[in-house]
Amino acid sequence: MNDDLKALIRTIPDFPKPGIQFRDITTLLLSPTGLATTIERMAAAVDGPVDLVAGVEARGFLFAAALAVPLNAGVLLIRKDGKLPGATIAEDYALEYGQDRIAIHADACAPGARVLLVDDLIATGGTARAAVRLLRKAGASVTQAQFVVDLPDLGGADLLRGEGLSVSSLVA
Ligand code: PRP
Ligand code: HPA
Repeated sequence: MNDDLKALIRTIPDFPKPGIQFRDITTLLLSPTGLATTIERMAAAVDGPVDLVAGVEARGFLFAAALAVPLNAGVLLIRKDGKLPGATIAEDYALEYGQDRIAIHADACAPGARVLLVDDLIATGGTARAAVRLLRKAGASVTQAQFVVDLPDLGGADLLRGEGLSVSSLVA
């Protein structure tokens, strides 16, 4: 299942640091059928109505925006801190290779809004867990998260499940 999509994702060794096998989705994006199939399969895995699809900068934006269209949902941008013009709330997190801080507009969602979290990839889960904390702080109801790629050896998806989310991905 999804071997067609897996074949479109390439691995770049030693990026951005020696020892990291970087799973590169730019090659999937270059394929019109690969991109359309990715969005169709993500849409099919969504459980119930969604008000907003929250995408994480930068690659997550692409999948979040494309998926929001068939779901009839809006897009909520989770940006690297310092990029959003209005009043924000922020969360720090540890990356597989570094440290970062993400932010959303404090008024980005109505209390109880049903928000689906989307990103291209989950590794340690640091980014996604910070995103969930942020969205919940803003009053969102976040019960599901979707990724194109899961790196299961890094355990992020299981950590997210441990926090009560249903988590799905197309390719491991
Ligand atoms: C990558 C990826 C996820 C995150 C996954 O983003 O797109 O957002 O890392 O790692 P984690 O599960 O260990 O937190 P990156 O910060 O490299 O940003 P980019 O999309 O702007 O390249
Ligand atoms: N590929 C893309 N993004 C990533 C990776 C990876 O292997 N690990 C953490 N973020």
